[in-house]
Amino acid sequence: MAVEKITGGIWSVGILNPNLRVFDIVMTTDYGTTYNSYLVKGSEKTALIECTHLSYFDRYLDNIRAVCDPSEIDYLILNHTEPDHAGGVARLLEINPNLEVIASQAGSIYLKGITNRTDFKLRVVKEGDSIDLGGKTLRFLSAPFLHWPDSMFTWVEEDRTVFTCDFLGAHYCEPFTFDYHITYPEAYEIAFKGYYDAIFGPFPAYVRKGLERLKALDIEYACTSHGPVLTRNGRLSYTMEKYAEWSAPRAAGPKDVPVFYCSAYGNTRQLAKKIAEGIRAALPDANVETFDLIKHPMAEMAARLNASDAFAIGSPTLNRDAVQPVWSLLSHVDAVNCAKRPVVLFGSYGWSGEAAANLKARLEGLKMSLFEEPFRVVFVPSEEDLKKAEEFGRRFGESLR
Ligand code: FEO
Repeated sequence: MAVEKITGGIWSVGILNPNLRVFDIVMTTDYGTTYNSYLVKGSEKTALIECTHLSYFDRYLDNIRAVCDPSEIDYLILNHTEPDHAGGVARLLEINPNLEVIASQAGSIYLKGITNRTDFKLRVVKEGDSIDLGGKTLRFLSAPFLHWPDSMFTWVEEDRTVFTCDFLGAHYCEPFTFDYHITYPEAYEIAFKGYYDAIFGPFPAYVRKGLERLKALDIEYACTSHGPVLTRNGRLSYTMEKYAEWSAPRAAGPKDVPVFYCSAYGNTRQLAKKIAEGIRAALPDANVETFDLIKHPMAEMAARLNASDAFAIGSPTLNRDAVQPVWSLLSHVDAVNCAKRPVVLFGSYGWSGEAAANLKARLEGLKMSLFEEPFRVVFVPSEEDLKKAEEFGRRFGESLR
């Protein structure tokens, strides 16, 4: 986000990172991202809302200097202390040792570990506290688990502007600040959904609470920490509607039991198909699809797994282990909501077949509910093996009734 005025006395001073392709190790960002930050100037005091990633601090400082001298900033508001927003705090404090940092109770604890400093002015704020900048009042709204325990929103009533940090954001970068200038809306939609799934998917109840907080405000601008500023006449309502849709409790309906697998020579695939048949036989109304993991986008597979009622996952053994796409899928598990999720393991192997034991240990670490021991076959499944695979799937299906 380039330096740009949002409304009277409020500027965006964050930075653009259009070339980023992986965020936080596990999130692909095909459309880059932005690290948004905002300066709010009242008649008496100046506040900076969010800091930035340490790697981009020098460019960020240039952006701030385009609006004011960094030493003139009175407050740094940290709605959330993840290092993509708080990584530069220690350097900012070196430049402005008089800066008072404002965070929630949880944020204040994390901040000490992120800055490795305790010798700075730190104010803990709670729900409803406020700071008067002179004609602009910053009011803090608690928003826990959106998406860290420390998260909060900052509301400037005079300008009907709310700062939501990650909430409602997107890893999406165009050289424009406002949502009504998005040039590639289809690309934005993909980035917006992927971001929601990865960051807020684990916290649907908290998302619903966060939306209620925002609906009670008369918002003109929602200034997120990634992606475009959302506006009343632009995408704000739509964005909130999509969050409401995605976070809604699942309606009662047919069970969803996907069967994921990888297969080098078709043997584990044969098991997958038979296990799926068995599950369907036990649960005729269930949605039981098989997915070869190398043929589908990983983000889509992760969303399917996380939204499932139960699932099966199979891998051959290569180099004494399960194969990489299977590990990748399990690295995207929403561990909060998948605890106790019923699962079965299966796979073909040639020599010693370590994949099953390694995956079993991983699923136990995720506190999932493993049904029976993994179903394993040496090399090519025989007709008898396939019959047993179908029976295995049927027993699993019956256990889900
Ligand atoms: Fe963009 Fe959770 O930090």
